[in-house]
Amino acid sequence: MKSELNDIPLSTADAGQGLPLVFLHGFPLHRGAWQMQFDTLRSAFRVIAPDLRGFGESRTRPGPATMPQCAADVHALLQRLLTGPVVLIGHSMGGYVALAFARQFPKMLRGLVLVGTKAGPDTAEAAAGRRATAEKVKADGVQVVVEAMAPKMLAAGNQDPRLLEQVRGIMNSSTTQGVVGALLGMAERPDSTGLLAQIAVPTLVVTGADDTVVPPTESEKLARAIAGAQLSVIPHAGHLVAFEQPEEFNRLLMEWLNRTGLASTPSIAS
Ligand code: MLT
Repeated sequence: MKSELNDIPLSTADAGQGLPLVFLHGFPLHRGAWQMQFDTLRSAFRVIAPDLRGFGESRTRPGPATMPQCAADVHALLQRLLTGPVVLIGHSMGGYVALAFARQFPKMLRGLVLVGTKAGPDTAEAAAGRRATAEKVKADGVQVVVEAMAPKMLAAGNQDPRLLEQVRGIMNSSTTQGVVGALLGMAERPDSTGLLAQIAVPTLVVTGADDTVVPPTESEKLARAIAGAQLSVIPHAGHLVAFEQPEEFNRLLMEWLNRTGLASTPSIAS
């Protein structure tokens, strides 16, 4: 489905019925990174997976794609699709967007799942590194980022060539403008640490045990700071944990949705 939202065409997959689960992908990916969640969970829930601005089939504008802007895009999309709150599931950059959404639109949240992500901002050095990478991408194309990042998506001991090829395929579909915009947007993202104590919805924090991009210690910090949050560490998984270990990820998510009662809340949203 394509919608014109906040002045850009935004592309979204939307299927199933019931409690809405909204999946936000990481960088430099697109909604296809959630395919194995989408295909499995659509039989029991309404599953909604947008391409964030600048990725997949969604377009963007020149300049930083800020996390608050991406959150506003998701909110505008949800306003079109439904009326009630959702369970928001964000991976890495998608987690930064999910936290921005939690800050801006708390009433639209029914539950939160933070996957391989963190609340803190970039250090000055990390932000400078992102800006330098953005310049390299402008000069040499998205390949710069794809080659650096693809192997880090999977656990070091699990570099399955077939999975790596799929990850590269998703990443290679990114445009220079999309990648540059997201790099600049992530570099200027605000510190969300103070927000964590205010999160009042059931929260699940998931990390791959072997994630070297956002180490599991970041997930531990999130789970400690959010009241009642459940921390789940998936073994033999790197940064793209839901893609690398989809069965275990889906099992955990279902278990959490059942344990918290979210799975059986009547949907007023669809
Ligand atoms: C991601 O996976 O979305 C990015 O690695 C996040 C980041 O670079 O901070």
